[in-house]
Amino acid sequence: MERSPTVSTANKTIRLADYKPPGFSIPRISLVISLDRHETRVKATLDCVRQDVTAASIRLDGSAHMRLAGLAVDGRPVAESLYDLDVDGLSLKNVPDHFTLTIDTVLDPAANTRLEGLYLSEGCFCTQCEAEGFRHITFFPDRPDILSLYDVRIEASREHCPVLLSNGNRVESGMLPGGRHYAVWRDPFPKPCYLFALVAGDLECLSERFVTRSGRPVDLHLYAKPHDIGQCGHALASLKRAMRWDEDVFGLEYDLDVYNIVAVSDFNMGAMENKSLNIFNTKFVLAAAETATDRDFDNVEGVIGHEYFHNWTGNRITCRDWFQLSLKEGLTVFRDQEFSSDMGSRALKRLDDVRLLRTIQFPEDSGPLAHPVRPDSYVEINNFYTATVYNKGAEVIRMMRHLIGTEAFQAGMALYIERHDGQAVTCEDFVRTMEDAGGRDLTQFRLWYAQSGTPHLDIRRSRDETGMTVLEVVQSCPPTPGQPVKEPFHMPLLMDWLPRNASDRSAPRLVDGTGQRLEQGFLLELRKPVERFVFADVPVDAVPSLLRGFSAPVILKTDVSLDDLSFLARHDDDAFVRFEAAQTLGRKTVLDRMHDVPVGSGEAGQALLAFFTHLLSGPLEDAALTAELLSLPGETEIGDAVDALDPVRLHRAREAVLNTLAANDAELLQASYTEYRDRQTPDLSSEAKAIRRLSGLLLSYVARLEGGAGYVGEHYRRAFTMTERMAALVEAAHIPDHAADGGGGGTTDLLDDFYRRYEEYPLVIDKWFAVQAQSRRGDTLQRICKLKEHPAFTLHNPNRVRAVFTTFSMANPACFHTGDGSGYELLAETIMEVDPINPQVAARLVAPLGRWRRLEPTRQKLMRAALERILSCKSISSDVKELVQKSLQ
Ligand code: ARG
Ligand code: ZN
Repeated sequence: MERSPTVSTANKTIRLADYKPPGFSIPRISLVISLDRHETRVKATLDCVRQDVTAASIRLDGSAHMRLAGLAVDGRPVAESLYDLDVDGLSLKNVPDHFTLTIDTVLDPAANTRLEGLYLSEGCFCTQCEAEGFRHITFFPDRPDILSLYDVRIEASREHCPVLLSNGNRVESGMLPGGRHYAVWRDPFPKPCYLFALVAGDLECLSERFVTRSGRPVDLHLYAKPHDIGQCGHALASLKRAMRWDEDVFGLEYDLDVYNIVAVSDFNMGAMENKSLNIFNTKFVLAAAETATDRDFDNVEGVIGHEYFHNWTGNRITCRDWFQLSLKEGLTVFRDQEFSSDMGSRALKRLDDVRLLRTIQFPEDSGPLAHPVRPDSYVEINNFYTATVYNKGAEVIRMMRHLIGTEAFQAGMALYIERHDGQAVTCEDFVRTMEDAGGRDLTQFRLWYAQSGTPHLDIRRSRDETGMTVLEVVQSCPPTPGQPVKEPFHMPLLMDWLPRNASDRSAPRLVDGTGQRLEQGFLLELRKPVERFVFADVPVDAVPSLLRGFSAPVILKTDVSLDDLSFLARHDDDAFVRFEAAQTLGRKTVLDRMHDVPVGSGEAGQALLAFFTHLLSGPLEDAALTAELLSLPGETEIGDAVDALDPVRLHRAREAVLNTLAANDAELLQASYTEYRDRQTPDLSSEAKAIRRLSGLLLSYVARLEGGAGYVGEHYRRAFTMTERMAALVEAAHIPDHAADGGGGGTTDLLDDFYRRYEEYPLVIDKWFAVQAQSRRGDTLQRICKLKEHPAFTLHNPNRVRAVFTTFSMANPACFHTGDGSGYELLAETIMEVDPINPQVAARLVAPLGRWRRLEPTRQKLMRAALERILSCKSISSDVKELVQKSLQ
């Protein structure tokens, strides 16, 4: 029996309000998977139990990418009249209360370019089932609230696939005729099908043993292609640190005897937390000092931690439905951020996270694709693996910790695990647990899950007749799609009063308004549109240090003077407030310059110049923080606050400011640069990393000076680590061919050298593509078109596509927003080319084209035209279509 689907039901909007518990549960599933590049056969045996007596038929999700080859109930083939097959699955009528369903399917993994379901990466079979990939392997109710015990038998060629892996423990293995072999894996934990995984290939393995705090030995295996295995040590060491950390901080221990990680080079996202068989993009596994930057090392540690932490927050406790995605992702991002903070510098980690929020999540929240942390509808769930669900979701968790206090929060985490282990739950369940643990009413706080948009805070201070200091905080939130009017949010505002005179011992007290004095400052609680906080004993000249630690994901406007900002940038003990004061000076200076105020004559510009000179002439205590303080906010971030934006004009203004800063402190910069360049050591200590960060940043300034190309070439040639080499290459890529002077700092030379050196390292070649896509050169757009034709470029590898096109459209505004719209056209064209190959990757490229409302009228039109062009394409995927349609609205 073989049947092809008939009716299409694609492009449906799924709504949270329509959630219904499943009609049938599937307590057990057994899979026999006989692997073949083109004709893989899957036999699924499902134990089905009716849960809802009114459910007359059972619905199984499926897809047009597999063929149904057999269907039997309790061993008897099902007559064609008793089931309906369509492109999205099948429905079986008149089934008993408890039955065994056997389904045979046939798939073609080699033809799977979507990298969802079962596919091949460099000859290795692997799977990606989150969110809805399992339905491409067999027919199944593909929803996270169905938890089953899995028993998986894999059969494959011994020669091509010596390694056979699935979730849980390997319980059996052996030989088969015809050069084949098999392995049987059993997972003792019931799990949703999105956590199913399979890997079969010719992989090498790096192993270690970890003993949990209760004495359970766990075998850790990291599998990779033979040529990659030498770069896996850092990932494995990170895994052990993550396992220990989760025990120490949350009391959470690993629950199986084996933990496998597999690195593959074709992967749609970063990594996947499949139970005991994580599958990773090589980008987040491989790291060696010669081929990976310090940031790459940190990212590997963070993502390894993230996927490991999912074992409790995601796997043991999973999501009831995909609207609850942030239940596991927001919480797990929060956990990985805490882990990275404890492993490295908490202050710097916070700045990185703030920057990510501002450059990606804030624009998302103010654009046409804005959605709440818990969305209430979607067409394609893969479009909701966003910075809002992940990173704003993590901020929401962090705010809860601020509001109920760290101790109560930790107790709440323990209670959450105790209450919900083994269940598929909702964000509401999490908040209720925290409410119970903290003894606080979080009713209003729940709005953070339901309302989209970034709140604005406007904070003003004054002194009343009685000498009290009053802080007035006005909150508002702009309209977002489908949400014209917002309720005020409940949020924590951490602040303090910084006396101008360090010997001032006065102790300000909060005498009116909800809040409390903590060690890090006053934790004020905002609930109403306007809140007034009255303080006594605030010195007249004290400067308010606001939003310490970025205690809430908001856009802050204050009446703090330039003078006060200069003071905060120099003296605040909160790294975020210091950084933010410096960023504000930078932002104001760039905006002034855009309105034709020369840097040296505007007040902000003068303050910024003075601050730079101050920093560079003093002893640089903290090299990494200094690097942050000497950086200007990015163009995307500044542009997000400008109406009728001309991004090229903004780019020129920012460049002019950077050039003026470089020229103004030329000698100091050159001296510090040489000092820090010479202090570099190739090790990975946090000190060595900080010095590399600062010398790289200083290089970006001296590269702007007379003879700059010489510094760049020299930096490149002396490089021991990829961090140093990339710092130089990024600068080299900005230098037009004709401007390269003597020292051999010419773009072409260095880029060619780099390519030859690292030809065998795809992740490094991604960097080679990315630096060119990021270049400030006037001919970058033409060069990108050429790069697309480069033999090493392919639309089939997501990392490669992102290296060129995400970089170009997100990190090179001047080039992307070229006045004639050719940048938009290039992106639109690429989206249409990638879409038939891999809709998920294509859809990820759409967001920059949705930013037209911010732009000046001509570019608005050009951008909309690019979107219309995509929409007019006949065979566009539902992934791309959903985002393009929303972007045009
Ligand atoms: N759960 C994965 C994580 O750790 C993300 C997987 C998403 N994949 C997808 N195709 N939507 O964040
Ligand atoms: Zn995750």
